[in-house]
Amino acid sequence: MSQPLRSGTDCAAWRELETLAQAISASSTRELFAQDAQRFEHCCIEAAGLALDYSRQRVDARVVNCFAALADQLSLRSRIEAMFRGDAINSTENRAVLHTALRRSDATSLEVAGEDIGALVRSERERMLTFAEDVRAGIIRSSSDQSFTLVVNIGIGGSDLGPAMAVQALKQFSSGAPGVAFVSNVDGCQLADLLEHADPERTLFIICSKTFTTLETLTNARSARAWILQRLGPKRLPQHFAAVSVNAKAMDEFGVHPAYRFAMWDWVGGRYSVWSAIGVSLAIAIGRAGFESFLSGGREIDEHFRAAPWHENLPLLAGLLGVWNIDLLGLPTLAVLPYDSRLARLPAYLQQLEMESNGKHVRLDGTPTALPTCPVIWGEPGNNAQHSFFQLLHQGTQRAALDFLLPINSSCASQPQQDLAIASCLAQVEALALGKDADQVRAELARQKLSPERSAALLPHKMHEGSRPLSLLLFERLDPATLGRIIALYEHKVFVQSVVWGDNAFDQWGVELGKTLTESFIPLVQKPEAVTGQSSSLMGALSYVQRWRN
Ligand code: F6P
Repeated sequence: MSQPLRSGTDCAAWRELETLAQAISASSTRELFAQDAQRFEHCCIEAAGLALDYSRQRVDARVVNCFAALADQLSLRSRIEAMFRGDAINSTENRAVLHTALRRSDATSLEVAGEDIGALVRSERERMLTFAEDVRAGIIRSSSDQSFTLVVNIGIGGSDLGPAMAVQALKQFSSGAPGVAFVSNVDGCQLADLLEHADPERTLFIICSKTFTTLETLTNARSARAWILQRLGPKRLPQHFAAVSVNAKAMDEFGVHPAYRFAMWDWVGGRYSVWSAIGVSLAIAIGRAGFESFLSGGREIDEHFRAAPWHENLPLLAGLLGVWNIDLLGLPTLAVLPYDSRLARLPAYLQQLEMESNGKHVRLDGTPTALPTCPVIWGEPGNNAQHSFFQLLHQGTQRAALDFLLPINSSCASQPQQDLAIASCLAQVEALALGKDADQVRAELARQKLSPERSAALLPHKMHEGSRPLSLLLFERLDPATLGRIIALYEHKVFVQSVVWGDNAFDQWGVELGKTLTESFIPLVQKPEAVTGQSSSLMGALSYVQRWRN
């Protein structure tokens, strides 16, 4: 019987962190900077083209030393290697966790359960990239022998969020490619809006679904199929449908073109699958070279994560800073604030990655977690956020941890405007960290020559406490390699946190109840007049369906 895995509170370092949290809380961030003239140099780690500046987090060298001790006491190095070599660490589903295998470059084998998955990954990637290049080049053509001008990815969750976020983020690398659009919600409006102006003769649908049983995806796929059948007829249908799934039988039954079917595997979680053929719409947008660059960025972070000393290890620091903010400073949410509109969907992507991974209340052994787990992830592009919820961040009673992401170069050849975004970002992180105290406000009011009574009345309203904990992730530009690095950084941050909390970051049993109830509720909604024996609230809601549905 193997030893039960330790989690954070089982470790001596955790008790030291609790003591340090008390001590640090007594110091403002301004005081933390005053205590170390080289705070920035000590708290900004650059690796793989990313610079993580955590100098405005509420930590000092003692805390970071404790992070390293905690990592060792949790045997984190061996936990990392267990993941990379394909141990069945997703123990509730008895599966390996090998999204990292999707971005390996070497031709070495990776034996898992007697199968060389390295070769499997390389051959499927090659098929997918060849398909993507052939669609881009007009070699793969429609049923009327035309090139495709619109590619529609039909999927949801991990079969949508990653590709959709990445295609938007890397728009400047997609010139000359067919348009790529995403349909995910079950209500049919996204699809209707898209098909209103689409040319069936030149539209390719890609059905992305690991299980090929997801209600939303199958519903949209069937609607798309009906649209093509109505306009092109059954013989021409297969040439307009590709698919990515574990479920080969379902792809066949749907009528997907035999050569346009791509495999994925149980040892890749949906929220970790953008690196697989699920990323085919991204590969069509940015091409083989762009996708391989994307993979290389993720691989750089893999190598960094496995090799870097803890004090210089970006995923370790990001992960434990997050645990520190949630469990020791009592901040249950994390706002993700990218200062680039092309990253507008990054918060949504990270919502699934983090909250479907660590939104758990039991540990791997089934016992309740000893600590609050997983931040509630939210966020918007930076300047938009400043004009939306930054008032609360600066002066509210509710506190949040903050991740600022800042590309230095414009993603759309508008550097003068990106410079304004940079100035905005740097101003905000300084203001949130350092605040504005009473003396500074008094001096400001004095310059306005206000009456003493008016100044006294305004003083409390204009003070900014500061000391809001935040990280600033800087990078040169938003290109495929950098996006790969950012995604891999957050993936491994999530893994580090799951080791501290002791939960399984790779299953998602919590989504099953809603799915099962939905299936049973469909007939109730279709015939509300016949419903009996349900809860009063459900019966009440169904009565509105009956009364108000046209
Ligand atoms: O949200 C539940 C979930 O199973 C996610 O984990 C997954 O990414 C999504 O639904 C879509 O699943 P599939 O790719 O099987 O359609």
